[in-house]
Amino acid sequence: MTKNHPHSVVHAMGNRHDYLPAAGRDALLPGYDLLTRLLGMRKLHETLVAQAELASGQRVLEIGCGTGNLTVRAKRAQPGAELIGSDPDPLALARAERKANGLSGIRFERGYAQELPYPDQEFDRVLSAMMLHHLSIDIKSAALAEAHRVLRPGASLHIVDVGGPVTADDGLVARLMLHNHHVADNLGDGIPQLLRTAGFDAAVVASQRHRRLGRVTYYRATRPS
Ligand SMILES: C[S@@+](CC[C@H](N)C(=O)[O-])C[C@H]1O[C@@H](n2cnc3c(N)ncnc32)[C@H](O)[C@@H]1O
Repeated sequence: MTKNHPHSVVHAMGNRHDYLPAAGRDALLPGYDLLTRLLGMRKLHETLVAQAELASGQRVLEIGCGTGNLTVRAKRAQPGAELIGSDPDPLALARAERKANGLSGIRFERGYAQELPYPDQEFDRVLSAMMLHHLSIDIKSAALAEAHRVLRPGASLHIVDVGGPVTADDGLVARLMLHNHHVADNLGDGIPQLLRTAGFDAAVVASQRHRRLGRVTYYRATRPS
């Protein structure tokens, strides 16, 4: 059990782990990929990979990789990069490994974003998709500090998540989001503030109203040189 136990989030939906799994609970994991396809997450992953401007020879880590869709997409977009997907959920990692079967320079490892098992300044890019809203505020802060630690100076963290400058005009899902405590720290400039506290130069790259997710916002956070 990790020492940073995100109490407020992990007990959602009767979850029994010390992390909130991809679909809320293990029994729902087999439906996760279909759900994410219906939610339009492929497009979000594609956009995030383009924003990360991956180059050959880079070492790239995804934190909270779940079933591996973004990690595999990043690998296919830049075959010369070395990809690691990290997640605390062994069931999701087993699915991710099956997707990466036959690809080289990609692996999946168990790890919590707030206690990454990697040395300082190990990576050129860290990616995070739809993960931060799974973390309580304390864990989120610790995870961003860890991303900063494992990135080289001048390297960057690229995030997409629900939230950002949400207003009631963004539709019903957004209005629900405004009252959802899981998403509260993601609203407004909550994420850029946490990124700056972790030592990053932070920017919102794009923010879009989203028919099924309410609003999604993309962030780039650079570790100063
Ligand atoms: C909604 S899923 C997103 C998965 C993947 N990034 C994607 O875009 O499909 C959120 C993931 O965050 C993981 N997660 C939850 N708590 C975590 C933590 N403390 N550190 C790292 N990952 C965590 C869950 O296990 C889950 O796989």
